[in-house]
Amino acid sequence: MLVTGGAGYIGAHTAKALDEGGFFPVVYDSLSSGFREAVRWGVLVEGDIRDAGGLGAAMDAYDVGAVIHFAGLIEVGRSFVTPDLFWNVNVTGTQVLLDVMRPRQIGRLVFSSSAAVYGDSGRGVLEAIAEDAPKAPASPYGDTKLAAEALIEAECRDQGLCGVALRYFNAAGADPSGLIGEAHEPETHLIPLAIAAALGRAGPLTVFGDDFATPDGTCLRDYIHVNDLAAAHVAALRADLPPGSFEALNLGAGLGRSVLEVVEAVARAAGRPVPYSIGPRRSGDPASLVADPARGAARLGWRAAKPDLEEIVTDALRWALGPAYGEGRKEAPAQAAADPNRG
Ligand SMILES: NC(=O)c1ccc[n+]([C@@H]2O[C@H](COP(=O)([O-])OP(=O)(O)OC[C@H]3O[C@@H](n4cnc5c(N)ncnc54)[C@H](O)[C@@H]3O)[C@@H](O)[C@H]2O)c1
Repeated sequence: MLVTGGAGYIGAHTAKALDEGGFFPVVYDSLSSGFREAVRWGVLVEGDIRDAGGLGAAMDAYDVGAVIHFAGLIEVGRSFVTPDLFWNVNVTGTQVLLDVMRPRQIGRLVFSSSAAVYGDSGRGVLEAIAEDAPKAPASPYGDTKLAAEALIEAECRDQGLCGVALRYFNAAGADPSGLIGEAHEPETHLIPLAIAAALGRAGPLTVFGDDFATPDGTCLRDYIHVNDLAAAHVAALRADLPPGSFEALNLGAGLGRSVLEVVEAVARAAGRPVPYSIGPRRSGDPASLVADPARGAARLGWRAAKPDLEEIVTDALRWALGPAYGEGRKEAPAQAAADPNRG
């Protein structure tokens, strides 16, 4: 299985799940934000997703049977600054991948999409999002995910590919082994930032807005354990889906957790308070992003096995307390904005 972006957070966990499931992961990654040390299962081929020659050589050398496509740029905030680069990597990169797969008759592609394709389209605050909800991305990042989905869907319709776009909600946690975990630079995800604040490795957390129409006024998000995401990718490879079909499926636990609930869970797990202050709302932040996971359950026979926030936070904390990839990450994680929309 070719795993583009397999040296990154979700890709590394999926490579482990593939290995455990009897597949051989061929990680294809530029290491632009991923880590050599995260590739512990299968092999690493260094290369850029936009390099057709490199991709083709990796597919031929390992006789690749299917592709899982994680590689891409993921910071929502940065996508406003360099939208062209995001389109180039996330959309053009996906087209290059499809072009390289086609002559090799590789029949299945599983793609990392995102809840960012939905944006904030006026639904009720506690309303779960099904796949047919209006698509209204609120960032160039979300635009690129929707555009890449469209390219894949067209390839399925016109060329007989079987495509599965998995729309992740908030990926969180870490493998309980402590061998791999979340390592973004800068880190903008809520749970690692709250952990860094609790451990005194970063300044106080900023919570963006406490006046949303939610039970405690802070944003609701659906946190999905990264091991559950990984399992869904293996299920998507195995699912009985015909050539020419395209599925877009939400991956979430179906549970809305507020920012303050997460802060409290981190404080309990760490045994220390999480210093935080309330900041203003940011534009484009929906009050709530919670998945309706029913279609994924029906198509993949998958559901979140680790929906418990305490377990997610405990696994993330174990990883944060253990050895990091490379050097320096633990000393000063950048205190970027805690972004419940990230990715
Ligand atoms: N983390 C989340 O909560 C989340 C939510 C929704 C969707 N996603 C999507 O899931 C995927 C993986 O996210 P992640 O959190 O593991 O991110 P990550 O940054 O940890 O991993 C991305 C990987 O892609 C590689 N990469 C980037 N550009 C590349 C290129 N041009 N060529 C080859 N490799 C390249 C990086 O080196 C890295 O290893 C992304 O596509 C992201 O948009 C993530």
